Amino acid sequence: MKREFEYSTVTSSEDVQKFGSILAQCFLASPDEEQAWVKRMGVENIRVIRKQKEIVGGLVTIPMGQWWNGGTVPMTGIAGVGIAPESRGSGAALSLMQQTIKELYQNDVPTSVLYPATQRLYRKVGYEQGGSFCSWEIPAQSIQIKEQPLPVKSVSLDSEIYYELYTKQARNINGYLNRNQTIWNRIIQPSDKEVFYGYVIGSVEKPEGYIIISQYSQDNENILSVVDWVTLTNAATKTFWSFLSNHRSQIDKIRWRSSAIDNLMFILPEQTAKNRFIQRWMLRIINVEKALSSRDYYPGIETELHLEITDDLIAENNGKYVLSIAKGCGKIIKGGKGELKLDIRGLASLFTGLFSPQQLQVAGKIDGTEQAISTATQIFAGTSPWMMDFF
Ligand SMILES: CC(C)(COP(=O)(O)OP(=O)(O)OC[C@H]1O[C@@H](n2cnc3c(N)ncnc32)[C@H](O)[C@@H]1OP(=O)(O)O)[C@@H](O)C(=O)NCCC(=O)NCCS
Repeated sequence: MKREFEYSTVTSSEDVQKFGSILAQCFLASPDEEQAWVKRMGVENIRVIRKQKEIVGGLVTIPMGQWWNGGTVPMTGIAGVGIAPESRGSGAALSLMQQTIKELYQNDVPTSVLYPATQRLYRKVGYEQGGSFCSWEIPAQSIQIKEQPLPVKSVSLDSEIYYELYTKQARNINGYLNRNQTIWNRIIQPSDKEVFYGYVIGSVEKPEGYIIISQYSQDNENILSVVDWVTLTNAATKTFWSFLSNHRSQIDKIRWRSSAIDNLMFILPEQTAKNRFIQRWMLRIINVEKALSSRDYYPGIETELHLEITDDLIAENNGKYVLSIAKGCGKIIKGGKGELKLDIRGLASLFTGLFSPQQLQVAGKIDGTEQAISTATQIFAGTSPWMMDFF
């Protein structure tokens, strides 16, 4: 690795300003917007890369967690990766990412997730596709659900009820964020230009979901955008749709984020929803032992998987491991027969369950005996991972 780049936190307000102005140019934002964003993310979470003492770029780390099989695993999100245009193409971003991952390893962080503008950069440092981020759209007229089994009540966005309901839903969705306050603030503290309306679905004593919405006009159409949602029961899902349908006299289209195979629209009479976009976020296993032992597994499985892992960046991750699963927990020790061979990227997609071991083998990401592939299938099977939040 080229030693010309120096990696550090930021100490002075000039450094914060310099990083903010690089990001503003990188992401076509105004300097004021970008400074405000950087401060919101927390100055202590900024990491910069310098060349001859000058800041040439940086990123922001977001400490949070992610849900897997009902338990949460610590995860650091990476956002705002930006290099000044005049310093691009010389390995600055690569060095920044490598050093960030090494720091996360030193701090015992098991996993990291990011949204890639380019996959190549992040694959070079061990990230791989982990799950989906997906937006759907439906003409309000075509929802056609009139039955509303539950009441809907307007509730202030600062209510604790949103956190509680979110967690109840999150534990059932692989890949869902265990949001930190910064992520929550984007939902409960809209900017001056936005108005969000929050509603709890069900009685106050026994809430079964919520919906937070915003409205705007775009290309001569009125759009209702679901900012965040939870439906814990069938009654809540029906109520979600009838509530949205009741906007149809003014609203042309409803937009919401969900999984690639969306279960919300499963109850609609017709398939009139269209996919607006689907993106894949990427995950890196920072620490093999911590990642595999701190996640939950299906309680009914009792088995053993022999892995052999390679990692170009974190030397400690290399080697053979035995992963033993029992009572929903995973124990990992070094050694074993190395029957499933994979690099740290293959392990990322296996860990999340975005692809089955058989699919990963066909894609050339893992290589294993028939028995090892079948055991891995059992261990990592689950619903397709996705998340509601972009960062
Ligand atoms: C993307 C960005 C961070 C790359 O910075 P950089 O310092 O030029 O990247 P590096 O020189 O370290 O390149 C490292 C590797 O990343 C890949 N890469 C870099 N920029 C790329 C691009 N625009 N498209 C595709 N791959 C790219 C290359 O594979 C490169 O490896 P190579 O030199 O062997 O080809 C920079 O172009 C940037 O700040 N862009 C605007 C903001 C942005 O899009 N940030 C990413 C948000 S996820």
